[in-house]
Amino acid sequence: MEKPSASTWHYGVVARWWAEFNEGGEEIDYFRRYVEAGQPALDVACGTGRLLLPYLRAGLDVDGCDISEDMLALCREAAAREDLTPTLYAQAMHELDLPRRYRTIIVCGGLGLGSSREQDLEALRRLHEHLEPGGVLLLDNEVPYADAGLWKYWLKENRADLPRPRREPGERRSGKDGAEYELRSRVVEFDQGRGRADAGTRRLRPRPRSRPVQRRRAVRGRRLPRLHRAARPLR
Ligand SMILES: C[S@@+](CC[C@H](N)C(=O)[O-])C[C@H]1O[C@@H](n2cnc3c(N)ncnc32)[C@H](O)[C@@H]1O
Repeated sequence: MEKPSASTWHYGVVARWWAEFNEGGEEIDYFRRYVEAGQPALDVACGTGRLLLPYLRAGLDVDGCDISEDMLALCREAAAREDLTPTLYAQAMHELDLPRRYRTIIVCGGLGLGSSREQDLEALRRLHEHLEPGGVLLLDNEVPYADAGLWKYWLKENRADLPRPRREPGERRSGKDGAEYELRSRVVEFDQGRGRADAGTRRLRPRPRSRPVQRRRAVRGRRLPRLHRAARPLR
């Protein structure tokens, strides 16, 4: 697989975590109103289909796009289990180049993950290009300084304790696939120059029940405000 042009952590077991545990949520109905009112629609950063699958189930004309082929593969698998065959594109949003134009484009939890400010600006241009005239773009955006717990790292003396130690094992969750999953994160470094928290480590451990840990993967991520949500639905 080609190396993606923006770095995110939604691959391998992290993608499986998403497919296993990230279902439902108020965003589905929030965005649905706009999708119903303006089709065809495009779900950019659709992931494993948390929003896309309910829309397809309802017969809405929605395509999906994501930078992570792993997320898309799991989305496709879930769709196939319901005899749905979505049109999915593996593209970074700042390189978006699709054959179709859309009445509605939604981006839920995807803008600014692991991308640069320049890439985000280009993404907005591309999203605009992919709208039909009068079309609607809807996106959410988490501001980089939303997590007050990270503010202390603006002070050099506080950055001395980075990287933070690994956390103690926490609660495991059982997946439908028969494996147990655990997700841990820690602050690794802070990039003051770019004006935002820069990197983190996520760890997820799936293991078959009654057997020792089988796989372990650490994923470098960005945008620490999101890393602090690790115990909640992973962004
Ligand atoms: C937090 S998940 C959200 C998935 C889905 N929208 C949802 O709400 O369930 C973020 C998704 O954005 C994708 N992503 C991150 N950066 C991206 C980029 N530059 N272009 C396209 N997709 C991206 C990731 O691969 C991941 O699937």
